[in-house]
Amino acid sequence: MKTNPNEKSLVLGIETSCDETSAAVVQDGHILLSNVISSQMEVHRRFGGVVPEVASRRHVERITMVIQEALDRAEVTQEDLSAVAVTQGPGLVGALLIGVSAAKALSFAAGLPLVGVHHIAGHIYAGHLVKPLRFPLVALVASGGHTELIYMPSHNRFERLGRTRDDAAGEAFDKVARVLELPYPGGPHIDRLAKKGNPTLDLPRAWLEPDSLDFSFSGLKSAVINLLHNARQRGESVDAADLAASFQESVVEVLVEKAIRAVREKDVEELVLAGGVSANSGLRNELSRRCQQEGIRLRIPPLELCTDNAAMIASAGTYRHLERQYAGYDLNAVPNLPLVP
Ligand code: KG4
Ligand code: ZN
Repeated sequence: MKTNPNEKSLVLGIETSCDETSAAVVQDGHILLSNVISSQMEVHRRFGGVVPEVASRRHVERITMVIQEALDRAEVTQEDLSAVAVTQGPGLVGALLIGVSAAKALSFAAGLPLVGVHHIAGHIYAGHLVKPLRFPLVALVASGGHTELIYMPSHNRFERLGRTRDDAAGEAFDKVARVLELPYPGGPHIDRLAKKGNPTLDLPRAWLEPDSLDFSFSGLKSAVINLLHNARQRGESVDAADLAASFQESVVEVLVEKAIRAVREKDVEELVLAGGVSANSGLRNELSRRCQQEGIRLRIPPLELCTDNAAMIASAGTYRHLERQYAGYDLNAVPNLPLVP
């Protein structure tokens, strides 16, 4: 096995935790050579959400081609690689298993070390592909499956400061979009609609206990549903754009406030925003404004690296590779894998 940490590291990343089949090659942890993403969004749209069985089947169909394309675009071969990194969890178990099996097969065939990567760790490392991360830092990861505040004192070290107790931020966007009869995934549609409206409707903010860095979005989602329901019963109409703007403002306010509080508590200078919801323009604007005001260095990866992709997995995996945190061929997909064991 090639395990000399002094040589240039060339890591192949594989990501299949949800509805994107992706493979990427990253050099030395932060130089992006290729990032191939085959999205299944169109397939799942007609069902209004990701159908796990359909996702697994699609991953099986695409994975080999996607890996080959990632190698071709990076102009490398299997022999040039230093390690294979794959998302081990969290995610849909059947979907994760396709990536894990492909990574194991490649590791075995090419004699490469195998690295299991936590999906949230990957999301944070998306920022590293733009400019090297500067530690210690706090990361806000907001996606369709997660809303977490993570402290990182250095590479490969994670401490969870807060998490959602119910719905993830992106999930709340998707569910509210559904009641507004917008297509799946609803986040970008709410974002666009919110720009046309004003946040005039009174919706709750779940701050939880005064010192808590946890989140909760299911109450907000229910408040939106009740508001629409009550209005319909009274024969009144609700301006969808105003509702989208009010809902978005409520989510953004809590995310921003808690992220800033986490940065202050851990006394760090850098905040990394990651996950699909970081595409939200309201969140980007408000977080940028507050960070500027507070003198916090804010890092927001470009959109294509914010949503699920394998480059972030290859990047995070590189630092496990450098610490020789390898998995055996018994590596298994873990749908609720904890970030800190
Ligand atoms: O990170 P991601 O691609 O997948 C998961 O790991 O979940 O995140 C997808 C989530 C979806 O819930 C989607 O609605 C949300 O990110 N999202 C947005 C926006 N773009 C994507 N939410 C709000 N505003 C957006 N512009
Ligand atoms: Zn994700």
